[in-house]
Amino acid sequence: MVRDRSVSSASRRSFLNLSGAASAAVVLRIMTEPMLARAARHTLTHEGVMIDANENPLGPCPAAREAVAAIAPQGGRYSDWLTDDLVKEIAQAEGLKPEYARVYPGSSEPLHHTVAAFASAQRSYVTADPGYEAGMFAAAAVKARVVKVPLTKDYAHDVRAMVAAGPDVGVFYVCTPNNPTGTLTSHSDIEYLVENKPKGSIVLVDEAYIHFSDATSTVDLVKADKDVLLLRTFSKIYGMAGLRCGAVFGRADLLQKVEDYAGWNPMPITALVAASASLKDTQLVPERKRINTTIRSSVFAWLDRNGYSYVPSQSNCFMLDTRRSAKEVIDAMASQNVYIGRIWPVWPTHVRITVGTAPEMEQFQTALKKVMSGAMTASGGPRRDRKLRMDGLVIRA
Ligand SMILES: Cc1ncc(COP(=O)(O)O)c(C=O)c1O
Repeated sequence: MVRDRSVSSASRRSFLNLSGAASAAVVLRIMTEPMLARAARHTLTHEGVMIDANENPLGPCPAAREAVAAIAPQGGRYSDWLTDDLVKEIAQAEGLKPEYARVYPGSSEPLHHTVAAFASAQRSYVTADPGYEAGMFAAAAVKARVVKVPLTKDYAHDVRAMVAAGPDVGVFYVCTPNNPTGTLTSHSDIEYLVENKPKGSIVLVDEAYIHFSDATSTVDLVKADKDVLLLRTFSKIYGMAGLRCGAVFGRADLLQKVEDYAGWNPMPITALVAASASLKDTQLVPERKRINTTIRSSVFAWLDRNGYSYVPSQSNCFMLDTRRSAKEVIDAMASQNVYIGRIWPVWPTHVRITVGTAPEMEQFQTALKKVMSGAMTASGGPRRDRKLRMDGLVIRA
């Protein structure tokens, strides 16, 4: 098939415009969910019940698997027009013009590049606590002040306290549903942030888990040309974490600033065709949302019956209140091959649990009952004590 290769894609443009900022990005190391999950893991096994990295056990949908197999023989070529095709499809699905969307191998890259592009030693990074940690590493790498604002009593982002963090803020990061709590921040709260933030700052909204929930997307604020960048990923409901595809939506000038910071890497063609096939499967999102909601509700009902506390979540993960050192509970669960985690320092007696398959969650329940009744403790073997250290920011597992 002949394609018009003269069309100037965003990636080609910025490749040609190598800036000083882009070369500075060489020092930026990316922190990702699998790195954080592995750091907290008891052993480096991949056998057992792995409910510690917010993965989707269902994997890619059948059409995506077929598309991956069909494109494999063309793996010797970059096939960059497939990127342009997916950008158009993904933008159309959200009612956006193609220039409002860019795709990346996962949303971790645009998350890091956005934080690094808009935060600095002079412009702070504001996030929720507990909240997804990755952006803090990018902020630390560019020497930005990191402000962690506790969630409200309803587990939403405290947008008023976030605005009060100071006039020097460069990036407000809002993850809704939040990782790790699975709780929502309302659209009106995000609007408040957008309307009251200091000039020159951006609101980075991470909707990695939105398809599991009933939340209203922030995409309308992107359409309205606000100072908003919006992240999406195919790693969660679409089950493509290992295939790597994500997207960022925003005004063309904001997207260009992100790309100027660190350039753009060609997409794996397997990810492009799998994402495209997934978007065309109109049953995928509602069906998987239903499956996740059913399993999560059944786990919550079991926790209620057994007198355990948790934070009610609308996502594929939730925080369990262990009422004692969550670290001990993680270790004791691992000794039964059930891998949960991780812990957020602000809540040392809570642990994050990913919603797995129904049989996996039954194993989780059996193991948890033993652990909480004291019948099962950690195996006693030496625990891996890995630290993730990045420019002064340390996360200890
Ligand atoms: C809130 C949030 N944002 C972004 C990501 C990045 O995911 P990926 O790079 O797989 O798209 C994750 C991964 O777990 C996440 O939890």
